Amino acid sequence: MSDLVAVFDTTLRDGEQAAGTRLGSRDKLTVARQLARLNVDVIEAGYPASSPDDFEAVRQISREIQGPIVCALSRAVPSDIEACGAALDKAARPRIHTGIGASDIHIMGKFRDERYGRTLEEKRARILQLGVDAVKLAKRYTNDVQFYAEDAGRADTAYLFVMLEAVIDAGATVVNIPDTTGYAVPEQFGNLIRGIRENVPNIAKAVISVHCHDDLGLAVANALAGIRNGARQVEGTINGVGERAGNAAIEEVVMALRTRADYFGVRTNIDAREFHRTSRLVADSLGMAVPANKAVIGANAFSHSSGIHVDGFLKDRETYEIMRPEDVGFDESRVVLTARTGRHGLSDRLAKLGYELSKEELDQTYQRFLAVADKKQEVFDEDLIAILHDELHPVAETYQLEYMHVYSGTSAIPTATVRLRIGEETREGAAIGDGPVDAVYKSITAVTNTKVKLLRYDIRAVTSGTEAIGEVTVQLEMAGKRTVGRGASTDVIEASAKAYVDGLNKLAGAG
Ligand code: KIV
Ligand code: ZN
Repeated sequence: MSDLVAVFDTTLRDGEQAAGTRLGSRDKLTVARQLARLNVDVIEAGYPASSPDDFEAVRQISREIQGPIVCALSRAVPSDIEACGAALDKAARPRIHTGIGASDIHIMGKFRDERYGRTLEEKRARILQLGVDAVKLAKRYTNDVQFYAEDAGRADTAYLFVMLEAVIDAGATVVNIPDTTGYAVPEQFGNLIRGIRENVPNIAKAVISVHCHDDLGLAVANALAGIRNGARQVEGTINGVGERAGNAAIEEVVMALRTRADYFGVRTNIDAREFHRTSRLVADSLGMAVPANKAVIGANAFSHSSGIHVDGFLKDRETYEIMRPEDVGFDESRVVLTARTGRHGLSDRLAKLGYELSKEELDQTYQRFLAVADKKQEVFDEDLIAILHDELHPVAETYQLEYMHVYSGTSAIPTATVRLRIGEETREGAAIGDGPVDAVYKSITAVTNTKVKLLRYDIRAVTSGTEAIGEVTVQLEMAGKRTVGRGASTDVIEASAKAYVDGLNKLAGAG
């Protein structure tokens, strides 16, 4: 058996299904370029039938990305598969990922209609046939067809084996075994993969892929158990982002395989030095911060603080470190960005962070960078990311915050006055609130006459020190639509107002 495990990245598809996140085609392309630098084997770029935007994202990524296979997802539905075929039309190495529910819970729960049969047995037979037909149709567009047996982690194994045999006969070159609900535990999941190898007669004609979710915090452990038992493709996302509790974190799987090569005896093609940069780009694009204690790429992953640890570490690094920070892209030497750094230094640092900016975008960002650098002694990478979000957001500005004044204090009722430009009109309003942010939000609501629910409000200082940039992320809901708004400023009330207005603009743009 080969010792190479292919890495299938689904950050742009399953990862983007994380609640409250949405990536436009431009953000997707930026992340895809970085995934290519990371040298993943497969980029799952999206689900073209889900929206015109996603179709466009898959199309653009297919056109530009040359190294990795570009994959698109579909249900076992002809129109989905045709959309994949069209979106992948120009891909150098296209793959269609199609599939259908394999567990009885999915079969009985999702395919209730009698046209799928009345009894479980009838429905199983019909579902299997739909899977086979889907693979055959996908084969008309590309030879590289991956089949997913959704909820395989809870499926009846005898039925799963028969289903896999049939789809491989129909031409599937990769069979994906998803633990869709994160229900499996490592030993059991490993046995499932071993069982597939031992009981599916034509399995040698296909690669087994594992796709694990993290509902019980076992996604990485399950994926590793699958590899240990013969899977030769592993699926996951950067930072473990994804539906519900997310997917197996690629950086954790890859570094476990690498650090414990003595145990697993396999390798990947990944350039692990790109992990840190990729992680930050994904966190930034999705608006989902990486916890400091996150394995491999968290800010504290290579920090030592207790006396005993520091003493041991300084004597011999290996006493408390099993990986080297530079192996996953942490940079120990830093270029300090200040107002004197210049455009070249700025664009160089932006490129290192994974952003390729046009000349106009760079000019725009540079002006904002200078304004921030004037207020701070040093501009950190996190500051730059916050600036980029603020300056280069491709959302139409239906609402523009022109002016804001807040009155607040220990014994004062927080009061805010805001002035917004709404199209050609300028409107002003004031409100009181429980705190200064509440007062600002109430005054913006009054001025814009919107009925928006604030679902979440997060604030973080993206750098340390009192002159740090505060980044605010809000999740808003209006008429059933949800969005995330972001704002950054050295003044946290202003950052809060900008985040709210940004969210309103996105909701207005969502039509
Ligand atoms: O979790 C899952 O089952 C999936 C499939 C669509 C592969 O994401
Ligand atoms: Zn999934």
